[in-house]
Amino acid sequence: MSGERLTSASQPISSEGRVYHLNLKKGDVSRYVLLPGDPERVPRIAKYWEKSWKVAEHREYVTYSGYYKGVFVSSTSTGIGGPATAIAIEELARVGADTFIRVGTTGALTKSVKVGDLIISTGAVRLDGTSKHYVIPEYPAVASFDVVMALIEAAEELGVRYHVGLTASSDSFYVGQERPGYRGYLPPFQRGLIEFLRSVNVLNFEMEAATIFTLSNIYGLRSGAVCAAIANRETEEFIVDAGVEDAIKVANEAVKILSEWDDLVSKSGRKILTPSLIGEWFGGRKKR
Ligand code: URA
Repeated sequence: MSGERLTSASQPISSEGRVYHLNLKKGDVSRYVLLPGDPERVPRIAKYWEKSWKVAEHREYVTYSGYYKGVFVSSTSTGIGGPATAIAIEELARVGADTFIRVGTTGALTKSVKVGDLIISTGAVRLDGTSKHYVIPEYPAVASFDVVMALIEAAEELGVRYHVGLTASSDSFYVGQERPGYRGYLPPFQRGLIEFLRSVNVLNFEMEAATIFTLSNIYGLRSGAVCAAIANRETEEFIVDAGVEDAIKVANEAVKILSEWDDLVSKSGRKILTPSLIGEWFGGRKKR
């Protein structure tokens, strides 16, 4: 790549059609892309696929593609936070992805969410900076209802503990999530943030969902998020990796479910998934 001349400064693509950061071209990835933050989680996600291959690796972006229960699927790491995540969404959309599921870790705000439980986000409070570059602050960061439903269905099928609700996405792990910074630094405007978010029914803190949801809505793409609560800000517990394997299993299964629903929608001639189509699907699934 070094020294290679790209198409232009405003649309940096290689002569082979590869996007600059992710090093992917059309055909490399599925329409369904699972998005962990951590590059090491990509092969962990792919180990559940019957067939998988590494497509690209550049900076924090590792991409695998493969087949899960017969469905073509991909996974790309986003790195941490809004800026890196927006690059992933921008470039994945350019190479044909249209459905994103974040598979992340999170800090729960209330003790009703146990460490190791999953949180499926319906929307995200935009405490990030990246989405503000794209759109007015009043624009909502909402997940797609069909992706949320597929994640809930998968969590039910797998029998894991999960919660559904609002998330807050911050660009800062420490001070922006009301953790004392170095030498105990915590500015007055961050004090009380956790209490405030709890009082308005926000379940958890993480760092990427708001960017994924906002960009997906702007571009007419779909997205959702399932995160494992590795920390609890009320009980002060923090268990590395707690629940991550469950989040991975739920996200993979949600892709399978969503692909079945997408087939039903296109066969039905409807534009969108309806409760009656889900009912039909469920009846058919029970018979199998
Ligand atoms: N990720 C976060 O952003 N916050 C946490 O507390 C845990 C994981």
